[in-house]
Amino acid sequence: MGVIRWGEGRDQSEDLGPGEVNASVYSDPQRFALERDRLFRNTWHMAGRVEELPDPGDFLVWEELGQSVVIARQPDAGLTAFHNVCPHRGARIVGKSGHCDSGRLTCPFHSFVFDLEGKLVSVPEKETFDPAQLVGLRTAEVAVGIWGGWIWIHFDPAKAPSIESYLGELVDEIGWYGMEDWKYHGGSNWVADANWKVVLEAFLESWHTPTVHARSVRGGFDVARSTFATFDPHSMMVVPLTALDIDSAPEPVEHQQYADCQYLLFPCAFLNMFPDQGYLITVYPIDENRTSCQGYVMARKTAPEGTDAATWDRSVESSFGVMDRIMEEDLSIAAEVDAMKHSFGYSKNIYNRLECRISAFHRLIDQFVAD
Ligand SMILES: [Fe+2]
Repeated sequence: MGVIRWGEGRDQSEDLGPGEVNASVYSDPQRFALERDRLFRNTWHMAGRVEELPDPGDFLVWEELGQSVVIARQPDAGLTAFHNVCPHRGARIVGKSGHCDSGRLTCPFHSFVFDLEGKLVSVPEKETFDPAQLVGLRTAEVAVGIWGGWIWIHFDPAKAPSIESYLGELVDEIGWYGMEDWKYHGGSNWVADANWKVVLEAFLESWHTPTVHARSVRGGFDVARSTFATFDPHSMMVVPLTALDIDSAPEPVEHQQYADCQYLLFPCAFLNMFPDQGYLITVYPIDENRTSCQGYVMARKTAPEGTDAATWDRSVESSFGVMDRIMEEDLSIAAEVDAMKHSFGYSKNIYNRLECRISAFHRLIDQFVAD
């Protein structure tokens, strides 16, 4: 058995070896604050599917990391994003996603009115303010863009690179799937009793599959032949599907067509892709002890050869059950791991080569936190 062929020009990264991490990264509240302010504030985030905002006036309220962001579809079909926070006294402007015919959102505290770009449209009792206080007043802007049928946001519009340059080599790697033409089938969410990194680490190796997922995943994956690559800051794991003969694939091999390809879109989005369907799970800390996970299920609009559209839709719908079971198993072991993080008998994690993506993940977080 050899290493999976990556296709032309692609090879495994050289520096993916064993590593270790100090236990305090999971339990230290100061570490959590640094991750929130230095890591999550400076990366792109996948905030939803474009299908969630089909019409002008539709808006999505995205809430993670103690942030609340309104993402709105404009009359010209473009998207805008802004902090869902009134610049008057800091109230949340709108409570949940919805549609707004008037194109106006009114703060429930003192009725400041905003348009769907987050600009201030009217101020009650305007003459009672010092005019200087109102100059340029608006909600704080958030950068927004679309790639692969996904809505992306960044908290620093002045410094945000383009989404394509952020994705780098993944533009071609993930672009293979053409997700912008896939159908979004809906979402799920979970709250985990574990640090966000404990949760995400379960998505960065497949070694635990025969133990943790013994009930839900029965065969089908050649886990022993999983291979890894890093794209700085993202990473990938390719797990061959036993039903598809990757060894007989014509050169150059399109590994996406023969494997379960799992991607970390740094820092916290896990994209699990099969040739014709897949799901995304975002993993955000609520605090250092709890984690919010959102799942999004999608599939090609056109059914694979030999399957009619209705059967294909039903088959994709059934993948919600699979995703739920796998998440239940991963989150339950994550809670068991997290419960021991204050143990006097625990000081660090050690990672082997099968867990090399986790070492790479921690090295990158360290770089952000140290800035
Ligand atoms: Fe797992």
